[in-house]
Amino acid sequence: MIKRIGILTRDCAGVNACIRAIVRSADSCGIEVMGIFKGYDGLINNDIKTLTHRSVSGIINQGGTILKTSRSKRFMTEEGQIAALRSMKNNQIGGLIVIGGNGSLTGAYHFSQKCDIPIIGVPATIDNDVNGVDATIGADTAVNVALDALDKIRDTATSLERIFVVEVMGRDCGYIALRVALAGGCEEVLLPEREFNIEEMCEEITEGNVQGKVSWIIIVAEGKAKAPYIAKKINEITGLETREVVLGHIQRGGRPTAIDRILAARYGAFALELIKEGESGKCVGLRNNELMTITLEEAIKPKDIEVEAYYRLIKLLT
Ligand code: F6P
Repeated sequence: MIKRIGILTRDCAGVNACIRAIVRSADSCGIEVMGIFKGYDGLINNDIKTLTHRSVSGIINQGGTILKTSRSKRFMTEEGQIAALRSMKNNQIGGLIVIGGNGSLTGAYHFSQKCDIPIIGVPATIDNDVNGVDATIGADTAVNVALDALDKIRDTATSLERIFVVEVMGRDCGYIALRVALAGGCEEVLLPEREFNIEEMCEEITEGNVQGKVSWIIIVAEGKAKAPYIAKKINEITGLETREVVLGHIQRGGRPTAIDRILAARYGAFALELIKEGESGKCVGLRNNELMTITLEEAIKPKDIEVEAYYRLIKLLT
């Protein structure tokens, strides 16, 4: 029977709600929870503190992570992973729950191959790019934050008859861009997963303008191109007034939506159940609204975010 577990996290809205769910589920069955600060670095550096029922009160609505986080270069090395395992043993941690996206889950997968302590992943990333699961904590909030900003930008685009190029997050994954473009009624979306031709796009804009269309909103995922560059090119080619907006990290923070909080609660309590049962090398997930698991090995493979289907719908509706 496991007596003590550890949690380490990446940051996005809903992660705190998940920490709370794990701590309180553990508390109800007498398991102690250690919070590991600053991600894998905290494990290596022994930056670990007890989390109690009380210490996770008032965090369900807070963005970010109370455990702080970092990208650990040391954990990618053999020496770093040995130090992390030593620290888990020294702290008598009998199970580890890793809450995060592709990077964190990749770390969890490699660690689970080498260590004899159960490790369970919980998908949390604004990019919703964890393979095999329908939803990651933080993605719904991020799309809604971006959409809220977009609706405000639309007011000015319409009033001043301008073109706006709005850059959203997504270095390798166009999930936010695709969903925001559809939900925001945008004319075009530029994605890391898709080729695009600026001359053709500008031809479409010019033709539309000749027929009386006066404003456009074009979404660009940060991994595909930079909004200032695209805006400048559109202005040079079409002669139409164009502005750019880079939304940046506002998309990763903020108050989690109800959808993300509920997902966080379900994932957190389920992850604790799995750890209790001695499961390891797995990631919790949702498929057709049912809780399920997938191996960490599968979870870190590239995910199909249905680019073509969503893109076709966006273009059909413009
Ligand atoms: O993976 C989540 C994410 O927010 C991506 O959408 C983005 O490209 C990246 O992280 C930004 O990372 P950082 O905050 O380290 O600049």
